[in-house]
Amino acid sequence: MKAVVYEDVGTIRVGDVPDPVIEDARDAIVRVTRAAICGSDLHFYHGKAPLGPGDTMGHEAAGVIEAVGPEVERFEVGDRVVVAFDIVCGHCWFCLHGQTSLCDDFRVLGIGTFGGELGGAQAEHVRVPYADVNLLAIPEGMEDERALFVGDNLTTGYYGAAIAGIQPGDSVAVVGAGSVGFFCVQSAALQGAKEVIALDLEADRLALAEKVGATAINVKERNPQMAVSELTEGRGADVVIEAVGSRPAFETAVEIVRRGGAISVVGMYVSETLEIPLGFYWSRALRIQFAGVCPIHSWWERAMKAVQAGTIDPLPIISHVLPLSEAVRGYELFDSRQATKVVLKT
Ligand SMILES: NC(=O)c1ccc[n+]([C@@H]2O[C@H](COP(=O)([O-])OP(=O)(O)OC[C@H]3O[C@@H](n4cnc5c(N)ncnc54)[C@H](O)[C@@H]3O)[C@@H](O)[C@H]2O)c1
Ligand SMILES: [Zn+2]
Ligand SMILES: [Zn+2]
Repeated sequence: MKAVVYEDVGTIRVGDVPDPVIEDARDAIVRVTRAAICGSDLHFYHGKAPLGPGDTMGHEAAGVIEAVGPEVERFEVGDRVVVAFDIVCGHCWFCLHGQTSLCDDFRVLGIGTFGGELGGAQAEHVRVPYADVNLLAIPEGMEDERALFVGDNLTTGYYGAAIAGIQPGDSVAVVGAGSVGFFCVQSAALQGAKEVIALDLEADRLALAEKVGATAINVKERNPQMAVSELTEGRGADVVIEAVGSRPAFETAVEIVRRGGAISVVGMYVSETLEIPLGFYWSRALRIQFAGVCPIHSWWERAMKAVQAGTIDPLPIISHVLPLSEAVRGYELFDSRQATKVVLKT
């Protein structure tokens, strides 16, 4: 089958790899109909965590079940599903307590050794272990592209806002208006935010955030601290969601939160370090919640309901739908920020 294959930092190709097969009685094989390129794929593309040559990529996908192992109970061949990007067991202590991304058998699709050697979902087929846990049915009549992000970016944004401690009437700032930020903006409004402020460097992404109700600040043009201060009677944002995953973005989050405010860190970190001025954090009584990997399984039913109800609209973020064979161009467009979100069609 065809799949996106990692070669080296900044180089991928679409190549032929062996078809996945059922390896465990609880596996399913999904024929991928849509796979997206996630901001995390860009981290891997840039070598932030080690992928090896020949590793297949991608972890945000929707498709149709093509085969199931004998112990899969909740799904059958032909079911339309979204795939959780984080693959978990569903029965360890952490899974049973809703913290599925801290699972004893935690893996991620398509990130090589780092994620437990599972094949990627930017492919014609993907093997999904513990299928009963790691697949969610797409509601009848919902198109694949609307459901697709529930397995990753959309639910991550929903989760990032839900754990941020937003109180009705709060001013919430979202640093990073990429796909995850776009869903954080919509989810913060669902949590009762009075005002959502989106900060990014890219005008097209900010325009999308505005379209779903945010006030936009271009940090290339304005000092973020001053701009947020002006919008919040000089105090700063009650809650900040960091949806970038870089030191400058984290520092912006700390600069724009009010004293006693909360920061939810959704952006991904691997080996970055930061010297923290403890007295500054302590005296300002900051609450910093590291989101970690999103425990998709605990949140995706709620997120899917929001999509079904139309309170979260995923479609505007998609700028490009390309055939899988054009994935190299898709990565280039997304990496150069000419695309806001690329969906690959098989
Ligand atoms: N916690 C999780 O489970 C989880 C899940 C999915 C993605 N992520 C992470 O969330 C982050 C965002 O993902 P995405 O898919 O939206 O990526 P993306 O690349 O589409 O968006 C990132 C956005 O951040 C903006 N940006 C970069 N530096 C900035 C800065 N200093 N200030 C403001 N904006 C800045 C970029 O212009 C871009 O619009 C990534 O770190 C990704 O790895 C985490
Ligand atoms: Zn992702
Ligand atoms: Zn588990």
